Amino acid sequence: MKRKKIVFSGAQPTGSLTLGNYIGALQNWKALENEHHCLYCIVDLHSLTVRQDPKEFHGISLSFLTQYLASGLDPEKNIIFFQSHVPQHAELTWILGCGTYVGELNRMTQFKDKSEKNKDNVNSGLFTYPVLMAADILLYKTDLVPVGEDQKQHLELTRDIAARFNNLYGETFSVPEMYIPKIGARIMSLQEPSKKMSKSDVNANATIFLMDSEDTIMKKMKRAVTDSENMIAYRDEQPGIKNLITIYSSLTGLSIEEVVSNYEGKGYGAFKIDTAEVIIEFLRPFKKNYKDYMNNPDFIENVYKKGAQKAYGLAENTMTLVRERMGLVQK
Ligand code: TYM
Repeated sequence: MKRKKIVFSGAQPTGSLTLGNYIGALQNWKALENEHHCLYCIVDLHSLTVRQDPKEFHGISLSFLTQYLASGLDPEKNIIFFQSHVPQHAELTWILGCGTYVGELNRMTQFKDKSEKNKDNVNSGLFTYPVLMAADILLYKTDLVPVGEDQKQHLELTRDIAARFNNLYGETFSVPEMYIPKIGARIMSLQEPSKKMSKSDVNANATIFLMDSEDTIMKKMKRAVTDSENMIAYRDEQPGIKNLITIYSSLTGLSIEEVVSNYEGKGYGAFKIDTAEVIIEFLRPFKKNYKDYMNNPDFIENVYKKGAQKAYGLAENTMTLVRERMGLVQK
């Protein structure tokens, strides 16, 4: 019998989850939960590469876990946990860091972008961030990593790190494949459709957050930047409209062609309002689930404690092998 594939992914608890996070990643996480062994992590240690207010950070971390559950991830089928609860992530980061070249890390575009944005805090964690990400993935012998397109470079580095280790010390890690949605791997900013939609955009109108109120969603969508072509078409020359069609299609399951043909000859105003309504409708059960889970902190605690326990066991198996391969004396 073929063994079930292992899936790992995560999001950084900063700010709040966006529609880009959902369409690019979480939607696929849910789709994979029946046929695979899935681990979904709140990568809280990654968030520390930017200074966080401890009290606020604590709340955001718990809110992220609750948002994972509210978006439909089943805690019985998936291992859902906090990265910081499984210390092997940090241990493997050290070991893999000793096999990763400074030149490789220097090429990471996200490091360049983030150092540009946080000029007063270009810390070494920001630089070695992709090694922690490689450790997250390799620790569980992951086969598939469902992510948005912006993670491609980090995934390629992870594959290189895994292959290099296997070559030097013998077959230890699976070399993981990236799993990205055909449509929606890069949801764009509503204000500058040449940029990706981001949790940390300074322009609040650029991003739809899953927790936004219905009024806010309608307002943001009405203000979404389009163009002067006045034609609903899915093409690169009209990035704003293309992005809205992508969102509409991803949330309704209609094909791009169906969306375009349904709106043939219609104006941008009506299309923006309808897209806002699609988002609002889609988020209604999410918000209800979120509220219900928030009223049940014991359940939430049970999910992450059980998740950490299971992840710990798997992680320790891999680390025992890694330590042995490297010649470290076993405990
Ligand atoms: P993060 O927290 O920035 O984003 C979480 C997931 O959402 C995807 N995503 C998007 N997809 C489509 N359009 C967008 N505008 C958009 N914005 C974000 C991201 O690609 C990601 O899949 N480094 C990672 C977290 C991480 C991780 C891992 C992921 C740490 N370790 C191991 C996978 C495996 C990050 O910062 O994602």
